[in-house]
Amino acid sequence: MFWPQHGGNRAWGAAVAGCSPADILDFSASLNPLGPPQSVLQALGRALSEPDPVAISRYPDPEYWRLRTRLAQYWAVDPEWIFVGNGAAELLTWAARDAQGREVWLPKPAFGEYERALQAAGAIIKPLGGENSGGSPMPSVEQIPPSGRGNRILWLNNPHNPSGRLIPRQEILALLPQFQQVMVDEAFMDFLPGDDPQDHCKGEIEKGEIETEPSSSQTLIPHLAAHPNTVVIRSLTKFYTLPGLRIGFAVGHPDHWRRWQRWRDPWSVNGLAAVAAEAALADESFRRRTLAWLPVAREHLRKGLQALPGWDPWPSQANFVLVRCPGSATQIQRALLQRHRILVRDCLSFSELGDHYLRISLRTLPEQEQLLSACREILDNSD
Ligand SMILES: Cc1ncc(COP(=O)(O)O)c(C=O)c1O
Repeated sequence: MFWPQHGGNRAWGAAVAGCSPADILDFSASLNPLGPPQSVLQALGRALSEPDPVAISRYPDPEYWRLRTRLAQYWAVDPEWIFVGNGAAELLTWAARDAQGREVWLPKPAFGEYERALQAAGAIIKPLGGENSGGSPMPSVEQIPPSGRGNRILWLNNPHNPSGRLIPRQEILALLPQFQQVMVDEAFMDFLPGDDPQDHCKGEIEKGEIETEPSSSQTLIPHLAAHPNTVVIRSLTKFYTLPGLRIGFAVGHPDHWRRWQRWRDPWSVNGLAAVAAEAALADESFRRRTLAWLPVAREHLRKGLQALPGWDPWPSQANFVLVRCPGSATQIQRALLQRHRILVRDCLSFSELGDHYLRISLRTLPEQEQLLSACREILDNSD
């Protein structure tokens, strides 16, 4: 079996643990443990039990107009500014194709699919930072040399995987005019309180400036009208716990989508994923429950990890915590699997980090207690 490049590979964890995938307690995929929302499961059930279940018996609308309209209402943008995709991962492929033969500035460490997509598209990657170059696991936008727009492109991830760092929006806004194109992956932005589109000042986006937006809101979406060189990519996978359905979307000037639409396969978002996405967006109570659970769980996990001798958790604004471990992180990962059937994510796929870090997702407090006591047991019994 290949060493996993992503979290959530229960089959791999089960092979190491010698159990069935269903017995693994998974802290490696950064998914919301409260989901999927009941409302989504009910909507899928209804869609499948109709006499003519059109979500699977017909081709989807290749323009996904209905879903785009719902997303547009949610985010207070024009539906023409929305492009839906088979997960954020598909959208990264098209953003990379835009970068063919051009320089892409990429703060490191970075989600592994960026390099895969950019290399496949023939882009020239200009890496920035990373621990081996004397920096930290945090992406450092301060290292970007100022310049006029030129032909250069910037790819950012905010909040950042794997560190959980949030790059303040004002810093990103200052960078946008310095690049010909910018892609900002906000796959984990839903987990930020204040990133609530319901609080945004609807209608103001067309003017390009939002004055009454809550100061805690960090998404770039309301600023895109003033920055047509920028696209924001979002995922419904993480917050709504829908990794098996594959659904994400991008927001930006429609010129981007005219190009991307020509490159992609038709119907790349399946009918059930579209049904699920609509139900998820409408579920305000799930969103509020998640945002109430999140800070409590994060503080609980951070404090618990900090109490382990020599463990150093980084501050996080996302639904996972990156922790530096003394010794080999993969040895701890293996012991957690073999002795406790618990899967955490090593960071070998973030090549700058080496075998020193684990990325641990937030789960319910009892599950986090189970993880912390398993870590203590392993540390107590190591030589
Ligand atoms: C930073 C980041 N962006 C995008 C994705 C892909 O999300 P999706 O499941 O929507 O394709 C991931 C998945 O782990 C991720 O970590």
